[in-house]
Amino acid sequence: MNSFDLTGKTAMVTGSARGLGQGIATALAAAGADIAAVSYSSSEQTLQSVRSYGRQGVDIVADLSDHSKLQETFDQALQLTGHIDILVNNAGIIRRTPVKDHSEKDWFDVIDINLSTVYLLSQIAGRHMLERGSGKIINICSMLSYQGGMFVPGYTASKHGVAGLTKAFANEWAGSGVQVNGIAPGYIETDNTAPIRQDPERTKSITERIPAGRWGKPEDIGGPAVFLSSSASDYVNGHVLCVDGGWMSR
Ligand SMILES: NC(=O)c1ccc[n+]([C@@H]2O[C@H](COP(=O)([O-])OP(=O)(O)OC[C@H]3O[C@@H](n4cnc5c(N)ncnc54)[C@H](O)[C@@H]3O)[C@@H](O)[C@H]2O)c1
Repeated sequence: MNSFDLTGKTAMVTGSARGLGQGIATALAAAGADIAAVSYSSSEQTLQSVRSYGRQGVDIVADLSDHSKLQETFDQALQLTGHIDILVNNAGIIRRTPVKDHSEKDWFDVIDINLSTVYLLSQIAGRHMLERGSGKIINICSMLSYQGGMFVPGYTASKHGVAGLTKAFANEWAGSGVQVNGIAPGYIETDNTAPIRQDPERTKSITERIPAGRWGKPEDIGGPAVFLSSSASDYVNGHVLCVDGGWMSR
């Protein structure tokens, strides 16, 4: 299946230190890609898996919500091989408080990294990709790109926004060899969902509503990420792929 092969490609994966970013970076390396891993903390553990597949990687520690440093961070990633073929916009946070108490700080902290960084970093990476006539951008969305959720208004707004950006960018760049798509994960076992999993009743009710009968693991996002990073998906544009054990079909 050569069309899924990522040999010779370099992927910049944000939020790669743990969770989904770690699962995605590992899967892309297994498919042949070198990895520029960018996170708030070190991605060394992720890069150990990357190297176990014979791929090279660079560990970039950066606060991606500092928008003034995004070009510098992208240029650092570029130094690994001289090209970035794939950008995975995965870094994100969530703040849980009821709407009436949701502070301005919580709102802007979430919007800054989950939405504005996706916009600005995609613009920077896109200029590089458009010049080369090829590239893949994958935005990590959410079921809350479609649903409202409870107690997470900033997160919901950010993820609806990311789904919108995915289509807006795809419409402009599809004809220039750059595919922009999204993945909407369901409930995945990561630090992001740890507080929910501490509540046994909530965990049970969520699990019962998932047709697959289980929560996802970071590696469940790996295969779809490889597909959307590879030439196998060259005619897929502006699509947000739900990887949710069937949650959105129910
Ligand atoms: N876990 C789920 O069930 C789930 C479901 C849907 C969508 N998502 C999305 O998947 C993405 C990853 O989530 P996760 O569950 O792996 O979360 P996580 O908290 O386990 O990991 C988040 C990663 O993002 C990085 N990060 C956060 N803020 C950053 C910043 N300002 N600068 C640089 N790096 C930063 C962290 O260092 C960490 O590596 C997020 O966008 C999240 O919204 C997760």
